[in-house]
Amino acid sequence: MSATIISGTEIARAIRDELNAQVAQLAEDGRVPGLATVLVGENPASRLYVGMKNRAAAEAGIHSRQITLPDTTTEDELLALIDELNRDPAIHGILVQLPLPRRIDDAKVLLAIDPDKDVDGFHPVNVGRLATGDPDVLAPCTPRGIIEMLLRSGADPSGKHVVVVGRSNIVGKPMALLLLRKAPGGNATVTVAHSRTADLGAVARTADILVVAVGWPGTITREMVKPGAVVIDVGTNRVDDPTRERGYRVVGDVEFDEVREVASAITPVPGGVGPMTIAMLLANTVEAAVRRGRG
Ligand code: GUN
Repeated sequence: MSATIISGTEIARAIRDELNAQVAQLAEDGRVPGLATVLVGENPASRLYVGMKNRAAAEAGIHSRQITLPDTTTEDELLALIDELNRDPAIHGILVQLPLPRRIDDAKVLLAIDPDKDVDGFHPVNVGRLATGDPDVLAPCTPRGIIEMLLRSGADPSGKHVVVVGRSNIVGKPMALLLLRKAPGGNATVTVAHSRTADLGAVARTADILVVAVGWPGTITREMVKPGAVVIDVGTNRVDDPTRERGYRVVGDVEFDEVREVASAITPVPGGVGPMTIAMLLANTVEAAVRRGRG
């Protein structure tokens, strides 16, 4: 058997087409959604991601403001900027790209963002809303994108055993909370595995749906996957590849070529979860703007 490929690129395109129409409608009513992204320092991967997010926002008709600050920016300067963005009526969504330089306390910065503008869903208020099952929460973009991918590819997690490998605040933990919700895309039986899990293979093999978000290539091999399982690979890892002009290629956390032989469906890297994260950022920004309009 060779797995169906779940194309995040195609599903994200469909979602972005839907959002374009919604943004055009809002703009007709004079309510253009606005997104501010904040990048501190020179991390090349972060620079690339933030650039992609802003381009996607502009393409959707969202007013996008990209703020790039030097590595020397102080925590107080960053907090003052967030305060300004919180009060700016043209901005409905604020995203501070992580990781921040080590001198700056991530938690303090995330706490400063107005929870209603927190399109990343990282503010403790939104984490709490997600944990308590608030249907209107702004949920973190990557796990929200994975739920959309599952639903739109006919792999509804309801009643299934989903094993999430990874316990980060950005993916693993919110993924588990979304899957547990009494709501469409939820109602799963969820196990969270991580770096200290004994016999990861044995745990992973019990999954009907396996979500892998650890950031380490080759984490999941063929023997760790139950035949017919759906495999979602969140990893984005650079591995050396002298055959490529740039000297590396991007791979996920899953051994794609061997796992596709046992899975029923699998996401590729690139072209899987990545494009969904961006589509969901736009969706959260539009949702934040709609709610502000109602408020
Ligand atoms: N760094 C890696 N992923 C993310 C994300 O989804 N949002 C932000 N703000 N930073 C990140």
